[in-house]
Amino acid sequence: VIDIRKLYDETSHFTFDPSFMATGSCKSRITFIDGDKGILLHRGYTIQDLAEKSTFMEVCYALLYGDLPNAKQLKEFEHNITYHTMVHEQLHFFFRGFRRDAHPMAVMCGVVGALSAFYHDSLDIHDPKQREISAHRLIAKLPTLAAMSYKYSIGQPFMYPRNDLSFAENFLYMCFAVPAEPYTVNPVLARAMDRIFTLHADHEQNASTSTVRLAGSSQANPFACIAAGIACLWGPAHGGANQAVLEMLEEIGHKDNIPEFLAKVKDKGDNTRLMGFGHRVYKNYDPRAEVLKKSCDEVLAELGINDPLLELAQELERIALSDPYFIERKLFPNVDFYSGIILKAMGFPTSMFTVLFAVARTVGWISQWKEMMEEPSLKIGRPRQLYTGPAQREYVPVDKR
Ligand code: ACO
Repeated sequence: VIDIRKLYDETSHFTFDPSFMATGSCKSRITFIDGDKGILLHRGYTIQDLAEKSTFMEVCYALLYGDLPNAKQLKEFEHNITYHTMVHEQLHFFFRGFRRDAHPMAVMCGVVGALSAFYHDSLDIHDPKQREISAHRLIAKLPTLAAMSYKYSIGQPFMYPRNDLSFAENFLYMCFAVPAEPYTVNPVLARAMDRIFTLHADHEQNASTSTVRLAGSSQANPFACIAAGIACLWGPAHGGANQAVLEMLEEIGHKDNIPEFLAKVKDKGDNTRLMGFGHRVYKNYDPRAEVLKKSCDEVLAELGINDPLLELAQELERIALSDPYFIERKLFPNVDFYSGIILKAMGFPTSMFTVLFAVARTVGWISQWKEMMEEPSLKIGRPRQLYTGPAQREYVPVDKR
């Protein structure tokens, strides 16, 4: 009888790194993070510069093609994206198969995966031109599908995309306009939306991006790969945290209750975590959280909203950052800590928060997929395991067990 565990010593050589704490899975030229210093660069540009000075479309171009576009390239790119904003009319019927109270992320997992059934003309993953068309289609159609999943959940008619508007303006329009009423997009909100998209555009090999790359390594089509990324993003330890932050703030309710809540977090008995805090890579303030905090003030001022949740979040941050538990573990606010407050002020329900994250991250996912597909030799991703089950044993017939 073979002792399987012995085989590891004799024949197998691999690194055991559960949760990939220290394993690089690929080379990439897209995004750089220095977690200790709190630095995030896309194609070499700081996230602060991109959020302040660029539009999301420029960031998309840089992530996909390696450099910021000049004016002509940007115009052409914007044209290529707006060309694909509509979805196949048949998808409307696909939506109608879902329950109205379905979580919009559940709907997104389904409809984005189903895009491969509608756009099979761009499924040749070995043709760079077809890969590019798929990338444009995904970037362009995600906002349309996200807005449709919102409209469907509230029982309002779908709004067709408007290509005379910017990416962010069009998204707000599709979410909040109704056919019977005139609708003007508030430029402050459109700018904030654009910035939120930029801040969530890419973040190197996080769980959902690694999922997209792993799915892509089997040569699955890009629509299926992005659907896999969306499914992974949904979890509260990842993109679902923005929804969880708002729910947590509502549960705390008042700043007087913060010490009691933090005591529960530190006690770890029921695994309560301070949502929107901590990050696998950042052991310093997440630079995206800083930009969002500023944006939050602007949006609330523009809308004349005095949200007690913002005050509560600021107080929670202040107390946590001076608490030895959080200091010792280097737990700082991450991108999700303030995003929910802005999105709520804009009128989005909490269930849509992670969907908006998916709209923004689609460009990161597809840029990483494109980069992987451009490698001269693509090998399927196939992690190993440390087997801890029984060694080989005798089969015993059922009547003798
Ligand atoms: N609240 C309380 N304690 C925490 C938190 C938190 N938010 N995050 C980590 N810790 C503690 C852990 O309990 C652990 O303590 P220990 O050393 O006493 O056991 C220590 O800090 C290290 O935590 P890990 O879980 O090992 O850290 P990891 O890198 O695996 O997790 C993660 C990172 C998942 C982001 C974690 O910090 C977390 O759950 N945060 C809350 C959810 C969240 O905000 N997610 C969004 C992340 S950003 C994004 O995806 C966009």
